Amino acid sequence: MQTNLFPVLKYSGVIAAMLFMNACLPDQNDGPGSSDPDLKTSKSGAKKAATADFGKTKAGEPTEIYTLKNKNGLIAKVSTFGATLVELHIPDKDGNFVDVLNGFDDVSGYEGEDNQYFGCTTGRVCNRIAKGKFTLDGKEYTLATNNDPNHLHGGGDKALSKQVWKAVPVVGQAAVAFTLTSPDGEEGYPGNLSMKVIYTLTDDNELRIDYNATTDKATPVNLTNHAYFNLGGAGSGNVLNHELTLNADNYTPTDETLIPTGKVESVEGTPLDFRKAHAIGERIPDKDVTKTDDCKTATLGYDHNFVINGWGRSHGEDLLFAARLKDPKSGRVMEIHTDQPGIQFYSGNFLKAQKGKGDKTYPFRGAVCLETQHFPDSVNHGNFPSTILKPGETYKTTTVHKFSAE
Ligand code: GLA
Repeated sequence: MQTNLFPVLKYSGVIAAMLFMNACLPDQNDGPGSSDPDLKTSKSGAKKAATADFGKTKAGEPTEIYTLKNKNGLIAKVSTFGATLVELHIPDKDGNFVDVLNGFDDVSGYEGEDNQYFGCTTGRVCNRIAKGKFTLDGKEYTLATNNDPNHLHGGGDKALSKQVWKAVPVVGQAAVAFTLTSPDGEEGYPGNLSMKVIYTLTDDNELRIDYNATTDKATPVNLTNHAYFNLGGAGSGNVLNHELTLNADNYTPTDETLIPTGKVESVEGTPLDFRKAHAIGERIPDKDVTKTDDCKTATLGYDHNFVINGWGRSHGEDLLFAARLKDPKSGRVMEIHTDQPGIQFYSGNFLKAQKGKGDKTYPFRGAVCLETQHFPDSVNHGNFPSTILKPGETYKTTTVHKFSAE
């Protein structure tokens, strides 16, 4: 059992913060002289994401989808709606490509009831905040309790996943930057929060996601991507045969409403021990048959935050190995590295056989989410790494998904 504290603050980089706040975001025609190095674009950029219409939102706002390709033929598609990862085409051991992500053909699917945060940028604070309440600098804030009795994934209609972001292709790379400013008080959160999320597909078969944010009032921030992966191909059945490794000796047990108790406990001797690869279906906990005391699960299947080994030690330096997922049938492998302290492993327990892209069906446990993030409800747990971003600081985090086949 581990109850260690994490003294290292998550946010740094005052200079970068000032640059980001002061930089006037360039429009699509800004050249390489733009003041924001991440957002240099060019009319003639050699490598540039192609764009297409992704439909209009119910409110009549146009949305777009950008295609990123690398030299090995991998393709990622990302949309301005929710800064969402929509498609990801990767090869199996024989070179056959499939799209491994749950999603929809256009924005109407993403706005519909069957969308369970597929591929979106999730926040301002991903996962749950207990009873939708927190106190910061002596003031109590109340958020939507959209996952009764708790706040989930940023709340209601103005959660980041439901907004149309501005896109700027990045010059010379298969990359797109999405930007959005969430005004003070939106979804109950304090501060004008300016965010940037950059998706990059590298020639090393990596999908890299960089997040950046600044604020003018102290506010909690915890951003992640909520992609649902099925390495056999999205819609090809369940993922119980997928083999998972998690670089985590510990996890954060929760109460019945999936709010952490505040403890950090060992995975040893529980179905949560993925330090060596196990098939997801091998020991899947089920609250109907497995009582909460064998693995402190309060949910059907896996839906747990794991503490990534080594986070406190190497924070701010390198990305840490967090997870490896392999589909033994196709041989497709995904490895995740991140600078975040936690990873939420969710085994698609609420998927309900909804229809998605190309009329595919996404069954119960038909995909896996591995969401790199700070721990759920951190804003109410002083012993968890802090999620508070203050004026003058920059929230900066990176997660890399590397794909291969064997
Ligand atoms: C996260 C949560 C789950 C569920 C899904 C979305 O992974 O931990 O409990 O809310 O998002 O359906």
